Order: sequence, then C-alpha cells, then structure tokens
Amino acid sequence: MRIFIAVRARFAEDALAAAVERGVRQVVVLGAGLDTYAYRTTLRDRLRIFEVDHPTTQAWKRQRLEDAAIPIPNSLTFAPFDFEHQTLAEGLGAAGFDSLQQTFFTWLGVVPYLTEETVWSTLGFIASLPNGAHVAFDYSDPPASFSAEARIHHESRAKRVAELGEAWLNYFEADELRAKLMALGFSEVEDLGPPQIAARYFPNRVTNLPDKGGHILRATTI
Ligand SMILES: C[S@@+](CC[C@H](N)C(=O)[O-])C[C@H]1O[C@@H](n2cnc3c(N)ncnc32)[C@H](O)[C@@H]1O
Repeated sequence: MRIFIAVRARFAEDALAAAVERGVRQVVVLGAGLDTYAYRTTLRDRLRIFEVDHPTTQAWKRQRLEDAAIPIPNSLTFAPFDFEHQTLAEGLGAAGFDSLQQTFFTWLGVVPYLTEETVWSTLGFIASLPNGAHVAFDYSDPPASFSAEARIHHESRAKRVAELGEAWLNYFEADELRAKLMALGFSEVEDLGPPQIAARYFPNRVTNLPDKGGHILRATTI
C-alpha cells in the first residue's frame, strides 16, 4: 500500500509536469486531502492550482497548514465541494475555474470512495471541457480477480475502512474502463496495473508480485 501511494503520486506528477511543458497552466487536485503538490511544486509560478475537497476535510487541512506555518501560495485556490451533492462544474465554477483553459486533474486516492455514478459524471465533465483536459486517477481491480490470499487481506482492509465511515464503493475491470473512457471522448489512456507498476518503478523487486490490485491511470482528450 505504501509503495502504491508513492507510485501513484510519482506517476501523476510526472504526467502533470509533461503536460505543463506542453502548455497546461491550470491544475485541479480533486479530493486533495493532505496533498502537498501546491506547496512544493517548482512549477508553481506557471500554474493556477485548485484544491477541491470535502468542506470538512479542507477546513481541517487549512488549520493544519496554519498550525505548521506553511504559507498558502498565491497560485492556489481552495474549492470546498462534496462530490455526492454538487456537480464539479458548480464547485469549480464557484471558485473561479476557467473552463476554457486546458486543465490537468489529479484525482488520487478518491475514486474508490465515490459512487460509480459520481465517478462517471466527474469523468464526463472532464472529458467535456472544450479545450482539452488530462486526468490521473487510481482504482482497483475487482476483488473477485485477486488470489485467495490477496482477497483475504483486501476484505479485512475494506472492513476496516468501512468501519471508519469511508467504505470502498467501486472497482473496475481494466479493459471495460478503458473502453468507457474512450467512449466518453478520451483519446489516449495509459493504465498501469501491479505488474506494469513493478516493472517501471521497482524492476529489481521480483518476489511476491500480485498481478491484480491497484492501478494508476492517466487519460487525455487531446
Ligand atoms: C484517501 S484521501 C486521499 C487524499 C489525497 N488525494 C492523497 O492522495 O493522499 C481521500 C480524499 O477524498 C475526499 N473525499 C472523499 N469523498 C468525498 C466527497 N464526497 N466529496 C469531496 N471529497 C471527498 C476526502 O475528503 C479526502 O481528502
């Protein structure tokens, strides 16, 4: 899990840096949590960044930032928002998002907590932006495809997060997900599952590799 969390941030931020090189100037961190990208990126002077998060989580983060004396960069705008009760168009519109600017969305560690309907309406909004958009998000293979041992671990983690009030609500089958993204208007999809993640980021770690589990994906409409 720790490796996966590090990899998903590396993958998304590398894709974002490449998009900035190609001219992207607007970034949306969806479900930001304690994400620190806006506070540490050296690309900050070239970007307008929105942190979108549940109002309660965002208020807690802002207090933590204040307690830690971490300044809020001028490039950052906070957009309090609940995916399940508002549309992303409304939440971002209220924060001054420019829907005509090509935009990169990072959406890390959030998709599994949302209803499938909300996941698709969010991706539909991203795909509909008139001047193009990019998104990076993570998701999990269906547990039925895991090995028996991995399924037992998964079930115990799923039970723990559900007890904390943050249940995992969805899983995707990779080929179906890719086909639906293309049908929505994404023209390029790069999806790394556990074997591809291991080969790219940990080529020397050859033992105990699952072939099913967490995926990190980027897609673009350009
Ligand atoms: C596991 S954290 C991930 C945080 C961060 N993106 C990261 O990669 O570490 C899940 C985030 O999703 C947000 N989230 C979950 N459900 C949400 C909802 N319905 N509306 C807005 N944000 C939501 C939570 O507030 C939290 O910040």
